[in-house]
Amino acid sequence: MRQPQSVPPKPLLHIDGLRIAFKAGRQWREVVRGVDLSVAPGEVVGLVGESGSGKSLTALSILQVLPPEARIAGGRIVFDGTNLVGLSRKAMNKRRGRDIAMIFQDPLTALNPVIPVGRQIYDSLRTHQTIGHKAALERIQELLEMVGIRHPRERMRAYPHELSGGMRQRVMTALAISSNPKLLIADEPTTALDVTVQARVIGMLDRVRRDLGIAVLFISHNLELIAEICDRVSVMYAGKVVESSAVETVFETPRHPYTRQLLRCIPRLDGASGPMPTIPGLPPRFDSELVGCPFAPRCDEASDRCRAAEPPAWREPGHLAVCWEAA
Ligand SMILES: Nc1ncnc2c1ncn2[C@@H]1O[C@H](COP(=O)(O)OP(=O)(O)OP(=O)(O)O)[C@@H](O)[C@H]1O
Ligand SMILES: [Mg+2]
Repeated sequence: MRQPQSVPPKPLLHIDGLRIAFKAGRQWREVVRGVDLSVAPGEVVGLVGESGSGKSLTALSILQVLPPEARIAGGRIVFDGTNLVGLSRKAMNKRRGRDIAMIFQDPLTALNPVIPVGRQIYDSLRTHQTIGHKAALERIQELLEMVGIRHPRERMRAYPHELSGGMRQRVMTALAISSNPKLLIADEPTTALDVTVQARVIGMLDRVRRDLGIAVLFISHNLELIAEICDRVSVMYAGKVVESSAVETVFETPRHPYTRQLLRCIPRLDGASGPMPTIPGLPPRFDSELVGCPFAPRCDEASDRCRAAEPPAWREPGHLAVCWEAA
């Protein structure tokens, strides 16, 4: 955990009122319902929330690679001073992979199975940068070393299927950062990995961020991992950010009951046994109009007004919570 900065720097990425809808019969159903999020240069921001809360769609919309049946229904995604919403395909293609890179839960979706991994990084370097053959080969070695791959000269010749899951995750990261992006989006980069490998991937991302100053949007179910590398965190519920602040603030003084419940679900490290606690109930479905606070049916602090009207945003410098009871 890091100390919160007193004056937040100008954001690199600023998402404002983002709405994403899916076609459901004749209607559009909104599943991301007004997300605000910002990432400063070099900052690591975590995005956490249960399955279906809209984390991946938010990430995909930054790169404009939403599934074809989805559309951005409102809001702005300002990256480095340019609103990406409505940008031409050509202009967007230039930014994707160069200024903004993404790593996924399953590296095999990003790696070409029939090309040796070194060659894939080589091609990316030569595409995105003016770099000669020899310099590119040296850069590949540097990148592989940076993500913690030993014997990079031999590893360069391997095909993706010849590497372990953790290794593939590292190669995908090396490929993603080969274009010197300003922002790296990591969507659940560790869930498919065992705990030890998870810790190594987190260590690697932290090093990448420190060495290259790349900003990271780190998406995870796991608040514990978020605490390890993030400066700030935004908590999503049912398509909205319900709380955001510096990581230590969320852990020490969470304002939203949903955040408090998530914190209770972190597995205990003191060896206490028993099943891992989960939050009772399910998030709302998006097929009917949501009335009141979407978390109210599962909230043990909810009152009548929570069920009747959407909660206002409560704010303190650097801290936001969307809850009637937060004040
Ligand atoms: N192809 C699709 N068609 C219709 N609805 C979809 C589609 N993909 C996602 N959704 C809806 O959008 C919501 C948000 O999905 P998203 O993948 O962003 O969630 P997430 O927070 O990334 O979840 P997870 O933690 O499981 O990865 C889902 O609950 C679902 O209702
Ligand atoms: Mg997801």
